[in-house]
Amino acid sequence: MKKWKLIFLAALIIFAALQLFNPARTNPPVKNDIITATKPPKSISASLRAACYDCHSHETFWPFYARIAPVSWLIASDVNEGREHLNFSDWPTEADRAAIKMDRINEVLDYREMPPIKYTLIHADARLTEAQRKEIMDWTAVIAQKFRSGTPSQ
Ligand code: HEC
Repeated sequence: MKKWKLIFLAALIIFAALQLFNPARTNPPVKNDIITATKPPKSISASLRAACYDCHSHETFWPFYARIAPVSWLIASDVNEGREHLNFSDWPTEADRAAIKMDRINEVLDYREMPPIKYTLIHADARLTEAQRKEIMDWTAVIAQKFRSGTPSQ
């Protein structure tokens, strides 16, 4: 057999073997959904769902390529890390903690850190317009203040 054929065959075997080690694609039960808890305007709920929920909730849409290693590991680690930092399906019930989370959302949107570019490159519907970004930011500021003055939700 020619050398390149052997290399190709070896790569194929390694790729196939990797598929045995795909991470779990979980969607645990929703505990306290941010939208249910804070009742934002419909336009904001839609933006959050389109731009954030895949990584920051228990309602992740796992695409077909999330089943294929090694891409599956990258996606699963983003989702796990995203949920760990901020979980819209496990929204804090304590007003002071919720206020801090609102501040953080405001901050990452201000610095355009979220949604990550690597994500919006593939997910056009997750790209926020300036108006959508501003709308969420203004809302987080109002809600954070409400939480701090002791009148949670709307
Ligand atoms: C592709 C997955 C992905 C998407 C989509 C995404 N995030 Fe994130 N986000 C992460 C990951 C991973 C982290 C933790 C590591 C980091 O800070 O980069 C994070 C961190 C954060 C943090 C910091 C939390 C803290 O206090 O430490 C906030 C706030 C945040 N994201 C908000 C958002 C918002 C709001 C959206 C939607 C507009 C969004 N993210 C979309 C993956 C994502």
